[in-house]
Amino acid sequence: MMLPKVELHHHLEGGAPPAFIRGLAAQKKMDIGGIFDERGNYAFRDFLQFLKVYEAATGTLRTPEDYHRLTLAVLEEAAASGVIYLESFLSPDFCGGRDLSAWREYLHAIREAAEAAERKDGIVLRGIATVIRHFGPDKARETALCAAETAGDFLRGFGMAGDEMRGKPKDFAWSFDMAREAGLRLTSHAGEWGGPESVRDTIRDLRVERVGHGVRAIEDLALVDELAEKGIVLECCPGSNIALGLYPSWRAHPIARLHDRGVKVTISTDDPPFFGTSMEREYTRLAEAFDWDEGMFMSLARTAADAAFCDDETRDKILKRLEKEVV
Ligand code: ADE
Ligand code: ZN
Repeated sequence: MMLPKVELHHHLEGGAPPAFIRGLAAQKKMDIGGIFDERGNYAFRDFLQFLKVYEAATGTLRTPEDYHRLTLAVLEEAAASGVIYLESFLSPDFCGGRDLSAWREYLHAIREAAEAAERKDGIVLRGIATVIRHFGPDKARETALCAAETAGDFLRGFGMAGDEMRGKPKDFAWSFDMAREAGLRLTSHAGEWGGPESVRDTIRDLRVERVGHGVRAIEDLALVDELAEKGIVLECCPGSNIALGLYPSWRAHPIARLHDRGVKVTISTDDPPFFGTSMEREYTRLAEAFDWDEGMFMSLARTAADAAFCDDETRDKILKRLEKEVV
């Protein structure tokens, strides 16, 4: 029996299976050697190397058609894990190099694939335009302009990924303000590699309503209480954190402690093939580690649906499906 799932933290390129990327590289005669291990999986030792491998793999995605195919592959995989609603980070940096007309074409291709997947499997996709932090604040401004121009019923949010240790959140405040004024909802990665201060600065300077990861808030209980009080939602990705060496085991992951202290936590995969995970595997491992039952997972799925950036009509549909369905 599979539970219906709502996933809020997922990077579209990070959902590309290694064989998919190898196929694109062969087709385009590109040499991306060195990013796979002997079994054909993505190979990296730490977070910074992961970012390099991620960008090398993403370099093979060069046309809207590539993103169309990627979106179909990603949504098929997610639907097979019981996901009924997915929010994915899309980046104008990778989709057309921050050129607005190219970005529109990529977005159109992604959206068309999403509509086809929704007709086929019932899965709903919405996009979050995303700044890559280590590309710097100037490029972020260009990304924000692309995002603001394309905000609508598909592109719902604005976020920031990349190397959390580079720059300060306030360097990106202009971009987040621009996105907010365009009606986009806000999230940012923080508290993955940076400590509690990084989460504090992000909430204060970018005024986000969700935080990507945010788990290192656990190192400061006053901050945990503040998150709970303000109702800020954490997009937790335990399998990603464990694969990248942030925590040594599932039992050591703070998601349960954050939840028990009143923080709104949700469950996502981040970059599933990079971390050898899926939503179904996240559920299985969390159930084993914390003895969580079906009721607990359904309650977290409702939290995620409430925090989703989609319009209210879509949210109501998702909440109804959560009530009714055991996939
Ligand atoms: N880009 C893709 N996955 C990421 C992660 N876990 N943290 C920061 N940037 C990312
Ligand atoms: Zn992420």
